[in-house]
Amino acid sequence: MPRIAYVNGRYLPHRDAAVHVEDRGYQFADGVYEVIFVVDGRLVDAPAHLARLHRSCASLRIAMPTSDRALEAIVASVIARNRIGRGIVYIQITRGVARRDHAFPRIASRPALVVTARTHPAPDETAVRSGVAVVTVADQRWRRPDIKSISLLPNVLAKEAAREAGAHEAWLVDDAGVVTEGSSTNAWIVDRDGRVVTHPADTAILDGIVRRTLFRLANEASIVVIERPFRLAEAMGATEAFLTSSTSFVVPVVAIDGSAIGTGRAGPVTLRLRDAYLAHLGRAAAAR
Ligand SMILES: Cc1ncc(COP(=O)(O)O)c(C=O)c1O
Repeated sequence: MPRIAYVNGRYLPHRDAAVHVEDRGYQFADGVYEVIFVVDGRLVDAPAHLARLHRSCASLRIAMPTSDRALEAIVASVIARNRIGRGIVYIQITRGVARRDHAFPRIASRPALVVTARTHPAPDETAVRSGVAVVTVADQRWRRPDIKSISLLPNVLAKEAAREAGAHEAWLVDDAGVVTEGSSTNAWIVDRDGRVVTHPADTAILDGIVRRTLFRLANEASIVVIERPFRLAEAMGATEAFLTSSTSFVVPVVAIDGSAIGTGRAGPVTLRLRDAYLAHLGRAAAAR
């Protein structure tokens, strides 16, 4: 069955799906995106993703290309046409096509909308639970990574640095030595008292949807979460560390820059939170 992508009002075979060469997303990375996990054909935490998409567009003064209802219908159609049970939906909105000029087009361009989906098989739970290694790189991003912009070059370079180092992810460290987040994940540590620490959702990080969900799940499990910046030195001495994202959920981090974290194995707080998140996914699948 051929993959189908939605591009500006049309459902096209994936291999033929294309945007214009003067789309401002292509030329200036002038756009935003969302990645939403799908379980049993249903979106996980769709309202939160939609709200963030609205925030990202508003921050860049890009109009939403459709109503929310129409967007939901397009996303549902892409899921159905690609027969996605468990997978990922990608939504991208750019300022649209206009003659090349850095400033916004004088006559507003029509925002461009692309929606794609692909299956994402369940990971090997035993392998995930053995944890991953991260390396650190300088956080070279602009000062608004809270906007989920498609301008991801520093993130691309960071992830490539991780891959070349044989690590799973790169944690970004700012000039003050603070770990802001990962290249495509939020970063967390656990202190000696079993409290979970993560960077506050200011303009220095993307406020992850899993991050938000985990606050609630941790609270339900009587695990204390503290939002405060933490430095790399503190992370190196943490009892546990982990990362979160919509596609990887909650993943133990067992080494940073080649040094073991805690016991060098996934810790109990992390694994409890992963289990709580997997249960959350199960509920999302069951929801009508
Ligand atoms: C830079 C960055 N931080 C954090 C996240 C995690 O966000 P979410 O939990 O919404 O997937 C992502 C996800 O793509 C990201 O790109």
